[in-house]
Parts: sequence; structure tokens; C-alpha cells
Amino acid sequence: MDLLVAIDGPAASGKGTLSQKIAAHYGLRHLDTGLSYRAVAKALLDSGQPLDNEEIAVKVAKALDLGTMKREELAIHAVGEAASKIAVMPHVRQALVEKQREFASLAKGAVLDGRDIGTVVCPDAPVKLYVTASPEVRATRRYHEILARGNDTDEAQILADIKLRDERDMGRSDSPLKPAEDAHLLDTSKMTIEAAFEAAKSIIDAAA
Ligand code: C5P
Repeated sequence: MDLLVAIDGPAASGKGTLSQKIAAHYGLRHLDTGLSYRAVAKALLDSGQPLDNEEIAVKVAKALDLGTMKREELAIHAVGEAASKIAVMPHVRQALVEKQREFASLAKGAVLDGRDIGTVVCPDAPVKLYVTASPEVRATRRYHEILARGNDTDEAQILADIKLRDERDMGRSDSPLKPAEDAHLLDTSKMTIEAAFEAAKSIIDAAA
């Protein structure tokens, strides 16, 4: 299907899982744009470069090949934190947004998820979802995910981190996280992922 679905939302809202399910169901390509910010941040961390030098970060962003990003390598918490720091830099965003738009235009139908897809990257997408859940619910989900992987963790710390990340992502001046005016809001606080998927399908089917 030749359809563009833009999905935004805060960390641990369930938008990633939902995006994958939607892409698989409709046979669309999927781009997790958070990975592109993570990949730039990880390259800087790995090479011992500062996270606050926009010129260096832009060079890394321009050289990034979206096709080589590996989710497993980029999933580390510290990389997500660093990603949200470099994501405040307008020229870094510009370089990555250009690549993300190229992906959206080349793919015959795609799902893109991130923080600014409906507002900046693909403002003309025919279907926009804003997936959210309360910080407490998101922290509890993350906590159980980490426990399930056999690691020990502290739920209160996760909640504090989530609130800090929200503040940074929603408070920045360039492309802050917010629902596009024409986005459908999906609050998954009291929903299973299956229920969220059913709700998303109804919205997409009605719009497509
Ligand atoms: O979604 P994920 O946790 O992988 O994103 C990491 C960080 O990258 C976010 O906290 C956000 O600061 C940034 N990001 C962004 N715009 C996007 C996707 C991610 O600013 N479209």
C-alpha cells in the first residue's frame, strides 16, 4: 500500500512496537528516526568527541547512512540520553531530517516514528498518530522490560529519567515534541499493545 503514517510520542510510550506492527500489517517500510539521533550520539561517544560541539555533530550526521543503523547497538540508555542532547542542535536536526524525508519519499509507503514526524519531517502525511501514556505507566513498562532481560533496575530512577527526557524533548526550541494539529491522540496508559494496535488500525483504515 502506498501510504505514509507519521507516528510521534515520548520515550516508552509504545510507539516503537506499534510502528513495527503497523508496518508489518500494511506491508510498509519502517524508519525509527530515534535511531538516527542515537547513531550520531554513539559515534561521538565512541570516538571520545564532545556532545556539545554542533560542528562536529553535524559532520557525523551528514555522513550517517540510515541503512546501517543497528537497533541492538543503539538501545543503551546512555546513548538515548546523549541522543536527546544532540537532538537540540538545529543543524544536526536539519541534516537528519533531510535523510528521513528522503526515506519517506523513496519508500512506496512507509511508517516513520519519532518526535517531530507529523510536525516537521512529514507534515503532509495523510495519517498522523500521537502515542502517549502517563510517565508512571511508561516507567513501569520500561522497568518490566529491563527485568525481563534479566537485569536489575530501579523504577524510581527510570521515572526520573523519563521525566527529564520529556522535559528536554518537549522544551527544546527547535522541533519540540508535541502533537501535530491534525494528529490522532492515542493514550495507551490503560491499553494493551494489542488494543492500541486495533485502535491505530481503525484510524488508518478510516483515513486510507
Ligand atoms: O525514540 P528514542 O528514544 O530512540 O529517541 C532518542 C532521542 O532522540 C529522543 O529523546 C529525542 O531527543 C531524539 N529524537 C528527536 N527526534 C526524533 C526522534 C528522536 O529529537 N524524530
